[in-house]
Amino acid sequence: MKIVGFNGSVSASSNTRKGVLAVLEACRQRGAETILYDLREHPLPFYDPDDHSRSANEDVRRFTSLLTEADGIVLGSPEYHNTLGGAFKNAMDWVGSRQFANKPVALVSATGGPSSMPTLTAMQLMIRSLHGWIVPVLGSIPGTAQFDKNGTFLDPDLKQRFDTIGSELVRMAELLKKQ
Ligand SMILES: Cc1cc2nc3c(=O)[nH]c(=O)nc-3n(C[C@H](O)[C@H](O)[C@H](O)COP(=O)(O)O)c2cc1C
Repeated sequence: MKIVGFNGSVSASSNTRKGVLAVLEACRQRGAETILYDLREHPLPFYDPDDHSRSANEDVRRFTSLLTEADGIVLGSPEYHNTLGGAFKNAMDWVGSRQFANKPVALVSATGGPSSMPTLTAMQLMIRSLHGWIVPVLGSIPGTAQFDKNGTFLDPDLKQRFDTIGSELVRMAELLKKQ
């Protein structure tokens, strides 16, 4: 069982990254192999449908093949201007239903405010259009969220929520894989 996470914030101290890693850790504890694709370390070129040479880019190839091979996906976007972050959206433009159709997808977003619901709603619309199966528990990280030095949520309710997201993602991936 392979679960691939993708953090769409390029910030070094990204809370979205911590949330994606918390979900991946919950998946790992349930026996999944987990991989994080981090846009900060491996930025993708700006998507241009007319420039075919860009899809030969090594990072683009790794990003698309990781998502193609995944049994389940964790997506993270920062909340920018009440919607998706630009780097996240650009990365998503490189992929499509080939990577997402009939796969469970967990959604995570960090905000400066109390709730990232606008961004998580935009992510849900996007995944529905790609025929992905959205994990019903959503990962909203408020601006007040605090983490210990290992990046673990200090708030036990948030810690529990992100653990539940991981367990639901693995459960859905197992059910879909059986078919
Ligand atoms: C360009 C930009 C736009 C932002 N827009 C919002 C916003 O609309 N609402 C909000 O609550 N926070 C907003 N923020 C704050 C971010 O959501 C917050 O810093 C969040 O932690 C970013 O995610 P990250 O920590 O993963 O980088 C914005 C930040 C930036 C840089």
